[in-house]
Amino acid sequence: MIRIHDKHFVPFLSASQIDSAVAKLAQEIADDVDEEVPIFIGVLNGSFMFVSDLMKHYHKPCELSFIKLSSYQGTTSTGTINELIGLGVEVKNRTVIVIEDIVDTGNTLVVLKKLFEDKEVKALKIATLFFKPEAYIKDIPIDYIGMEIPNKFIVGYGLDYDEQGRNLAEVYQLATENTYNPINSNTMINIVLFGKPGAGKGTQAEFLKDQYNLVHISTGDVFRYNLKNNTELGQQAKAFMDRGDLVPDALTISMLQAEVEKNAGATGFLFDGFPRTIAQAEALDKFLDSKGWGVTATIALEANDEILIQRLLERGKTSGRADDQDESKIRNRYDEYNEKTAPLIEYYTQKDLFYSVNGIGTIEEVTRRLSTIIDDFIDK
Ligand code: AP5
Ligand code: MG
Repeated sequence: MIRIHDKHFVPFLSASQIDSAVAKLAQEIADDVDEEVPIFIGVLNGSFMFVSDLMKHYHKPCELSFIKLSSYQGTTSTGTINELIGLGVEVKNRTVIVIEDIVDTGNTLVVLKKLFEDKEVKALKIATLFFKPEAYIKDIPIDYIGMEIPNKFIVGYGLDYDEQGRNLAEVYQLATENTYNPINSNTMINIVLFGKPGAGKGTQAEFLKDQYNLVHISTGDVFRYNLKNNTELGQQAKAFMDRGDLVPDALTISMLQAEVEKNAGATGFLFDGFPRTIAQAEALDKFLDSKGWGVTATIALEANDEILIQRLLERGKTSGRADDQDESKIRNRYDEYNEKTAPLIEYYTQKDLFYSVNGIGTIEEVTRRLSTIIDDFIDK
């Protein structure tokens, strides 16, 4: 997986797959062309690599020129296209073969068609390396297609994301929940999101789980679900939770293991609020090890108690969480944290797995800080 600006991209087409498509397309054009010498017109900037390789595979006489248009801003088509650099060659009564790197909506083709018709070309043919049939909304026929691809944003081999990525020899696809698969990078990603009550573990997990395709397990949420449904587990945990005490290890550990087992196909987990004691951390190590996995990193959200207590009291007005309702219960949660959970910092530091970020700032700022760390060990 690679990162360009703020986005992740996964490998989609190898250099050799691209080369075969280019060679096949060059052959098709050559087979069609008779004695007449065509003018190939590359559409810049995206087509520069394709034009270069196409020319190497095209062995008949030809001329070559370029035109520059712009149709994209970011990852979605803006629909507005401007001609930037005009055509410098005479095309009247000539056969023109426009070379596009990609055709999606077809908006660019409409402009090109008009442009060349105005210049009274003898024939206009369109060749594109990539074609997105699901996105194409025009009826201009495309004469030569290297390959049809799904309607997903791609970069590489001349195509950019906000001007970067053109130099990649392969093509990458924008990573989404379903395309980013840590198993393909040979490793499960198991992140322990660590922090005092109210530090933002649950808030951040909502973003990270989508961004990295992780299963989010919040032991607090699972306990609350059981409380609400009055299960045996909920009844056992209730008194501890209401006071702001930790629930006994044995109960918590078996519950956590059951949650992991429920997600057999997962490619990584985001543990939120677990482990909270040394015994839990040891149990987690043993459990993950039994599956051939391990903790990838523990990342703490750092924040000062007084700010966090305010956050929780504020949330307590609407959350219905008994442990958020009064300050003495909240302070008890901090005492529990300091006594039983804080020693985990040393536990994970010794294993060289402990990272921390400043948890104060906007939610987006904190997400960015976390992503920077996660991206770092994904890239390794
Ligand atoms: P649990 O549910 O895990 O509660 P907690 O650790 O006390 O943490 P919170 O969920 O309250 O906070 P959070 O860090 O997730 O922050 P959040 O994103 O919600 O555990 C509850 C209880 O269950 C425990 O006390 C224990 O009894 C039991 N339990 C759970 N796990 C256990 C275990 N492993 N062993 C034993 N017992 C266990 O954010 C908090 C608030 O701040 C929100 O209102 C949010 O909107 C706001 N906020 C978040 N980020 C920001 C920001 N950047 N700026 C401003 N506000 C923000
Ligand atoms: Mg939480």
